[in-house]
Amino acid sequence: MKLRRTHYCGALRPAHLNQTVTLCGWVDRWRDHGGIIFIDLRDREGISQVVFDPSINPIPDSATLRQETVIAIQGTVRKRPSGMENKNIATGEVEVLVTELEVLNRAQPLPYALHEDSPTAGEVDESLRLTYRYLELRKPKLQGALRIRHEFLKSAREFYFANGFWEIETPILYKSTPEGARDYLVPSRVHPGHFYALPQSPQTLKQLCMIGGLDRYVQIARCFRDEDLRADRQPEFTQVDVEMSFVDEEDIRTLHEGLMKKTLKDVLGKEISTPFRRMAYPDAIGKYGSDKPDMRNTLQLTELTAEGKRSTFQVYQTALSEGGAILKGLCFEEKEPISRSELDGLMKKVAPFGARGITWIRIKSPGDWQSPQAKFFDDNLKKDIEAKLPYKQNAMLFILCGKDTIVNNALSALRLEYGLRFGYTDTSRFEFLWVTDFPLLEFNEEDKRFYAAHHPFTRPHPEDSATFMKSDAAPDLAKVRACAYDLVLNGYEIGGGSLRIYDQAVQARMFHVLGITPEEAQHRFGFFLRALQFGTPPHGGIALGVDRIAMILAGTDAIRDVIAFPKTQKATDLMAEAPSTIDEKQLHELSLRVIPPRKE
Ligand code: AMO
Repeated sequence: MKLRRTHYCGALRPAHLNQTVTLCGWVDRWRDHGGIIFIDLRDREGISQVVFDPSINPIPDSATLRQETVIAIQGTVRKRPSGMENKNIATGEVEVLVTELEVLNRAQPLPYALHEDSPTAGEVDESLRLTYRYLELRKPKLQGALRIRHEFLKSAREFYFANGFWEIETPILYKSTPEGARDYLVPSRVHPGHFYALPQSPQTLKQLCMIGGLDRYVQIARCFRDEDLRADRQPEFTQVDVEMSFVDEEDIRTLHEGLMKKTLKDVLGKEISTPFRRMAYPDAIGKYGSDKPDMRNTLQLTELTAEGKRSTFQVYQTALSEGGAILKGLCFEEKEPISRSELDGLMKKVAPFGARGITWIRIKSPGDWQSPQAKFFDDNLKKDIEAKLPYKQNAMLFILCGKDTIVNNALSALRLEYGLRFGYTDTSRFEFLWVTDFPLLEFNEEDKRFYAAHHPFTRPHPEDSATFMKSDAAPDLAKVRACAYDLVLNGYEIGGGSLRIYDQAVQARMFHVLGITPEEAQHRFGFFLRALQFGTPPHGGIALGVDRIAMILAGTDAIRDVIAFPKTQKATDLMAEAPSTIDEKQLHELSLRVIPPRKE
């Protein structure tokens, strides 16, 4: 390479007029205007227009300057002729008249049209884009998202360092830590039949750092979870992982409000006010049907179980006679008429949540109800229901009845959809919420046992800890609250944490309640139980989902937009073709044999 870069393509401004500059980058577009060639030259920082004039230099041919060829050019910055400026790009007032060209590397014809405005862009399959991820990475949209992710991490690191945290790395080859998903395992060559587990999070390790007296730990930690993937989940993802000694819940929450305030200011220039709202878990479920409500949406659900029991609709009567069944409504102003076919199709929207029916009621004015089920509500009942609703004029009420989780999940989804559609959601805002007082344990009907709602190291609420330590009755244990909290932003769970158990007897009791035998507890967590005996400080922490935060800050709803090399919904990497088979020799070294997949 002869020419040395003096400026980024995106850096040129009128202040550089008449300067000799050298730019390096990729040919983005190529135009021939009557023998004069215009090229949009692109790098990470933007685009500059460069001009080849045959009266100065021989014009390179179009194959030489094919799209994505890497070149360096030297030339003089000049003003674009009046009327030819491009207001859409920062360099749009100037161009570079080329005096020297160096072709650094030619590009093969591209596997698909890269420009989003090309006629075939819509036809390009997502899997093709993932196979050629490095070409996607050249696009300003992805680069912008990765820049935001970088800015967030930079700002967060500054924040933690200023607050006395040490950045500490913990092992990736480790032992299983339960966070509710399956582990990714790595076979050991030197210990045949033994496996490392990749950490689902560094949970026990960060607690061991506190036992080790390190006081304030932070790590940008990669976590691995073999679980079903969704739009906001990846099998490997990144947390800002934090642990602190001698703190209470409020210390951790207040500190992290400071973190969000600083990072939003640094990354987006956005001022947010603190403290954030706090809401106990039962309130979140009651009012929004979700433990991560989108607080930009002003709609709330209305609890109507008692009223439902008074209706003569047999479906409600039957459903409400079952344990755990509730009846709830979502009411909003019908700002534009909802068509009958849409109302008839509502069932399709709630069926995926397990709902078996939905009632819609159009309340034109108080007492004037239109609905196939209107006849099941007498005038008094209508009046009592209306008294609880936020609107009773030109209103739409959706009612769901059945098992509480099904009703809440389905109504919460409708709340999001109709909240957006009818203008109840101000999408320009950032709305944070702390959800607190989570239950400590969740009963699983299939396995007939409790699981830790957060993880098994979470401390029971002090007011409930006597029950936790003594009672084996499932209804008592189900009521025990945890010192656990989630941070929610715009309807996404962006973080979760808790105060931890620091007493070995409480930790052993937790394993017992979870149905883990003392032998199994010893096998899986013996090292940790032992460590708790040697002077463990009270401690607690939190982990923030970096990918989700970056996704929200970048204004996208796909987590893979903020991950340089993401995996597909099937946890594969299409570019490198991972996972892949390994050869016999490697299997032999690892003392492994592949057995055919089990038939489901
Ligand atoms: P938790 O499991 O709640 O807590 O995870 C913390 C945060 O990590 C993010 N997250 C994910 N992001 C992308 N893909 C995934 N598959 C995924 N899973 C989780 C979420 C979540 O809020 N050890 C505890 C933390 C603690 O108690 O300190 C833990 O990992 O934003």
